[in-house]
Amino acid sequence: MKFFVDTADVAEIRDLAETGLLDGVTTNPSLIAKSGGAIRDVIAEICAVVDGPVSAEVAATDFDGMMKEGEVLAAIADNVTIKVPLTWEGLRACRALTRKGHMVNVTLCFSANQALLAAKAGATFISPFAGRLDDIGSDGMELIREIRVIYDNYDGLSTEILAASIRTPLHVKQAAMAGADVATVPPAVLKKLTQHPLTDKGLAAFLADWEKTGQSIV
Ligand code: E4P
Repeated sequence: MKFFVDTADVAEIRDLAETGLLDGVTTNPSLIAKSGGAIRDVIAEICAVVDGPVSAEVAATDFDGMMKEGEVLAAIADNVTIKVPLTWEGLRACRALTRKGHMVNVTLCFSANQALLAAKAGATFISPFAGRLDDIGSDGMELIREIRVIYDNYDGLSTEILAASIRTPLHVKQAAMAGADVATVPPAVLKKLTQHPLTDKGLAAFLADWEKTGQSIV
């Protein structure tokens, strides 16, 4: 599974990119607002740090507006993925932008039928929002499992499932088990993935024993 980080905080992205484990970045209008920067500058900075896909979301809701904004965003760097909402206008824009050779991430997906339409529209990524479904008492991971089954039923569908609105390490594991191609994860959750008290305890014991040997490896 690929790991994207869900943030527009360039310092955090730089930090995580140094691990060599970061495959891409997703942003949305709320994250850009939180960054305090201008969208074109922020996306350009992120693209300079990360080689993989960097999602930048349009703000227009009509086809012509999305096309115009999509072209502006795509011109920032080769790895920009244009993010469009899952509406009929968004699907039309998805079809047109992918035909022009751009990567497109269809966002705000909350049903399997929406995901099927996005794949038919040629989306590079579909973003089912697991956490927001959990928030209203639905099962977000069930949606990811459903999309996996549907996409696997048809050879012609190449859209990648990008598990979004991931809130916990458990979500990450469940998304991987459901066969999501990508999980986009907030930095704090990504950092938690290595943590286990037995790892810390075991390492402390190994280091204490090593100290007693008086040896040095280099
Ligand atoms: C990803 O592309 C989305 O912008 C993001 O995962 C939404 O997460 P949230 O529901 O925690 O805001």
